[in-house]
Amino acid sequence: MKKSLKFLALSASVLALAACGNGGGSDASGGGSGKTYQVGVAIYKFDDNFMTLYREELETYFNKLSEETGDKYVLDIQDGKQDQATQTEQINNFIAQGKDVILANLVDPTAAGSIINQAKSAEIPVVLINREPEVEELEIWEGKTTYVGADATQSGTYQGEIIAATDSKGDINGDGKVNYITLFGDPANVDAQQRTAYSVKALDDAGIKREALAEPYLANWDTAKGQEVTATALEQFGDKLEVVFANNDGMAVGAVTAIKAAGRTVGKDILVVGVDAIPDAMELLEKGELTGTVLNDHYNQSHTAADVAVKLMKGEDVASYYWVNYVKVTKAADAELKAAEAKTETTKEAKARYEERAKSEKNSN
Ligand code: GAL
Repeated sequence: MKKSLKFLALSASVLALAACGNGGGSDASGGGSGKTYQVGVAIYKFDDNFMTLYREELETYFNKLSEETGDKYVLDIQDGKQDQATQTEQINNFIAQGKDVILANLVDPTAAGSIINQAKSAEIPVVLINREPEVEELEIWEGKTTYVGADATQSGTYQGEIIAATDSKGDINGDGKVNYITLFGDPANVDAQQRTAYSVKALDDAGIKREALAEPYLANWDTAKGQEVTATALEQFGDKLEVVFANNDGMAVGAVTAIKAAGRTVGKDILVVGVDAIPDAMELLEKGELTGTVLNDHYNQSHTAADVAVKLMKGEDVASYYWVNYVKVTKAADAELKAAEAKTETTKEAKARYEERAKSEKNSN
């Protein structure tokens, strides 16, 4: 099923690209002009579950585009090893080598401005992915720079809604409130901040009382760290702990291991919710050992990033934002990958939306 969906998605995007036209090359194999394009890809670190799924899908998709369009896309993928200095050097190399486009999953999104300025002077368009920069950074070179990602507030909201939809609404011991902890991803990433805030906001919006048993535990998106901090919390709070909000599945999977080791049972006396829908988490979900997760759609995010990069390489202008939806997951079928259209936004629209959001956040505090 997945395979045929992927095939359908691919055919659709190949058709879309072919329909765009690209200079009317004479190549017979799918409308391409037989050109070779050099694509520089900077990943914040390879050792990350979700970004590995993303990276592999990006490679697969570019390879298929190469096979089916008559143009050739050569990928140079670099591991930033979670160090911005290392990554900046890798991106400087891309610029020096004259890549046709740069796809960047920045270690530190505040580096976006200087990277865009450099790329602009070399006339190399930039597609930022996964770690959202400030709107101002995308105003530097509109049309030739873009962010392809997902709105993290949506994933946080879905996490809270999953808990609110359980029989106990998260109040397993019936004391009138949800006692919870949060496993926090990475301070440099808006995904972590927004999931932390919006997961519990969804409880507030559903009229459910809550109490954080501790400040969010920094666990760096990491399974072993997620396990470690959850074990500590279980020791400290015992049966009081009712819900674990994990900013991603890696940490949620670690939490489930700690919960089992403490002799407790997910679903019965404690609830755990993550984000990403990685295979390890889906396995637990299917066994009833994870309450829920949220699909962070690496499939459509990587395809959109590639399609947008192709447009840029062919000299077209693109929108400032391409947003792919998250999907709420409480059963296997919810996480099925299928082609979906990304929603575009201008910097002006994004600014207005963020201003509105800030106002309503202020009012609800
Ligand atoms: C998030 C994802 C995390 C981690 C992070 C890296 O969107 O949920 O698991 O991969 O990106 O920036």
